[in-house]
Amino acid sequence: MKKIIVTGGLGFIGSNLIELLLKKNFYVINVDKITYSSNFYNTREFKKNKNYQFIKSDINSKKLFNIFLKHKPSCIFNLAAETHVDRSIDSPGDFISSNINGVYNILECFKKYYIKYKKTKLIHISTDEVYGDVLKGRSDENYSYKPSSPYAASKASSDHLVYSYVRTYGLPAIITNCSNNYGPKQHPEKLIPKLIFNILKNKSLPIYGKGKNSREWIYVKDHCEALLQVYKKGKIGEFYNIGSNKNLNNIQICEALLKISKNLTSAKSKVKIKYVKDRPGHDIRYALNSNKIKKELKWKPKTNFAYGIKMTFEWYLNNSNYYKSFSKKYINKRLGAKWLEKE
Ligand SMILES: NC(=O)c1ccc[n+]([C@@H]2O[C@H](COP(=O)([O-])OP(=O)(O)OC[C@H]3O[C@@H](n4cnc5c(N)ncnc54)[C@H](O)[C@@H]3O)[C@@H](O)[C@H]2O)c1
Repeated sequence: MKKIIVTGGLGFIGSNLIELLLKKNFYVINVDKITYSSNFYNTREFKKNKNYQFIKSDINSKKLFNIFLKHKPSCIFNLAAETHVDRSIDSPGDFISSNINGVYNILECFKKYYIKYKKTKLIHISTDEVYGDVLKGRSDENYSYKPSSPYAASKASSDHLVYSYVRTYGLPAIITNCSNNYGPKQHPEKLIPKLIFNILKNKSLPIYGKGKNSREWIYVKDHCEALLQVYKKGKIGEFYNIGSNKNLNNIQICEALLKISKNLTSAKSKVKIKYVKDRPGHDIRYALNSNKIKKELKWKPKTNFAYGIKMTFEWYLNNSNYYKSFSKKYINKRLGAKWLEKE
């Protein structure tokens, strides 16, 4: 049985990826620091699975080399990161520490591990935000990096570091750049789970600026399947964009959710959009050209937005304990009315 290490597996995409890997009969070791964005609710279904193991560790820890050596993973998926753009504006230091220094430490540990064990590879998960604003057309893998937020800049730096270790030390690594994910188990500080929470609580929907910022939305399980395909068929040293080609602005997202809520709960919702002061450096549009992964690795997304967003809404509706799994203090502080006014 092949062993795989997933870093950041208590988070949104990592926990969905682990679910897929366990279904495909891999042995999975989840390495996570347990930051505020991690949640054991996300891994509760496989907590007792004999093919699953959790190890608490920071990706900055030198212990990582011993973890690699002990388990001899055939692949390491790196998803551990600070991920919320707003937080990167308030405290960029955490982003430098996890997203740049942490990746540097993974690379150093992986370099030592690769000397001893050759049948392995590192897949570094990154974002479309590294390209910055894409006002027209779609950015392919040759588009220049022009990150606008400290989050995007930290991810861009880590992509460059990973690529430099491929070129300089011959490390077997691949970089993926994915668009905005939606689906079950996402932290409620992020747009879609926050809007669903507010709709369920009859609160207004806080939207930045004029609500015209456009993102390409991919269902998280499609992203995870793409990652598995990259592991199986991806070429070392390559970058792969992963997207759905489906762009929607924030007003369209609100409208889609309000429509589903009306159908699902048959409640007459009085919830309204509330426009709030825009985030500094807020990119207008991201849009990926994902032809390379479709053509070379024969992957394509399976979930259309209308279906995926309905499944997503249903998941949050049926998992009311998910929101409760965040501490009362957090909910009061971050999801309470005060926070919503501010955002
Ligand atoms: N969510 C998206 O839409 C999206 C899109 C494209 C790419 N990505 C990338 O995918 C990855 C996962 O994103 P997500 O949305 O699941 O994030 P998330 O915030 O939900 O989860 C991140 C996880 O990483 C862990 N972590 C953070 N710092 C760590 C450290 N120093 N050591 C060990 N663990 C640490 C956290 O505890 C958490 O469990 C990130 O690298 C992100 O940049 C996300």
